[in-house]
Amino acid sequence: MAVQVQGVIAREKDSPVTLETIIVPDPGPGEARVKLLACGVCHTDLHYRQGAINDNFPFLLGHEAAGIVESVGPDVTDVAPGDYAILNWRAVCGQCRACLRGRPWYCFNTHNATQKMTLLDGTELSPALGIGAFAEMTLVAAGQCTKVDPAAPPEVAGLLGCGVMAGLGAAINTGNVTRGDSVAVIGCGGVGDAAIAGARLAGARTIIAVDIDDRKLQLAKKFGATHTVNSRTTDAVGAIREATDGFGADVVIEAIGRPDAYEQAFFARDLAGTVVLVGVPEPDMRLDLPLIEYFGRGGALKSSWYGDCLPSRDFPMLIDLYLQGRLPLGDFVSAKIGIDDVEAAFDKMHQGDVLRSVVVFDS
Ligand code: APR
Ligand code: ZN
Ligand code: ZN
Repeated sequence: MAVQVQGVIAREKDSPVTLETIIVPDPGPGEARVKLLACGVCHTDLHYRQGAINDNFPFLLGHEAAGIVESVGPDVTDVAPGDYAILNWRAVCGQCRACLRGRPWYCFNTHNATQKMTLLDGTELSPALGIGAFAEMTLVAAGQCTKVDPAAPPEVAGLLGCGVMAGLGAAINTGNVTRGDSVAVIGCGGVGDAAIAGARLAGARTIIAVDIDDRKLQLAKKFGATHTVNSRTTDAVGAIREATDGFGADVVIEAIGRPDAYEQAFFARDLAGTVVLVGVPEPDMRLDLPLIEYFGRGGALKSSWYGDCLPSRDFPMLIDLYLQGRLPLGDFVSAKIGIDDVEAAFDKMHQGDVLRSVVVFDS
């Protein structure tokens, strides 16, 4: 039976979100219906609301979530009702050219639920990143549910569904940070701090946090930064070189999505070093770099999609490390809020003192 629940809807470009009744169909083949326990508020939700992603309004927002599988479609065998899961937005297909070459984290054909959730009048909803988790219940592809240890509280577990995974993965998957490395992270929001935590986890020796906000730099120390640089007042490239015997860092992670910050990252790495771009740029941004420097410095310039994560491999592992006290995921949760506080959380996003606001549902 289809169920009716409350969900956070962005009806049209730039207007405040509304809490509305939605209809969530019974799961069909390959689908799972999930009762949400928690969902973090991410910049991408705001971007949807601003019309910056596409024009497929109305959107059902929310995509950084954990919950309990409520029911599954007839052919679903990998998850079952009662499973505690983090939702991922890259359910790999197993059949595209990336999957067939054994590189499923690049899957070029990830999938979502086939059926649509709707408003009461039948209007089809576009769920944010194919999830739509600011709702008491949502419908996803079964492969979007990744089972993890239920001992991890949902407001913490859900964070791995998006931004925190992107940052951790930028360091441990894309950047291949290993023990003894020097790492610089430019931009220390939730994503950058997760990259710092990932670098520490991987055994980096020097971790340099760069931001223009001193409060962010203080927080970055908590996640493992050994050095901090305020790039509003200090030359970031010079300071990163100074902290690395004059050479530059082995891995520099750009976690904002700005050409000027990317340029700093490019010049602040050591010869044969790696630059990882995990911040998402805007479509009109351009980069102008001397090609001879690109050649002469060698190494690798990479971008990181969702931390190049493979949910089935990375989520359960990172949750176990969290439960063992080796990954401070709980420190990313700045505030627990109600489902009607999402608009206020958008306002707070740019004030600088919030890493993540997380909607927690009554269970
Ligand atoms: N130099 C250094 N730091 C900067 C600069 C700059 N020019 N401009 C902004 N910052 C800092 C901000 O002070 C803030 O601490 O970058 C940080 C960005 O953090 P958030 O706004 O909280 O963003 P976050 O959620 O971490 O996401 C960062 O990654 O996944 C993408 O879409 C996401 O592009 C976004 C990026
Ligand atoms: Zn694939
Ligand atoms: Zn997100």
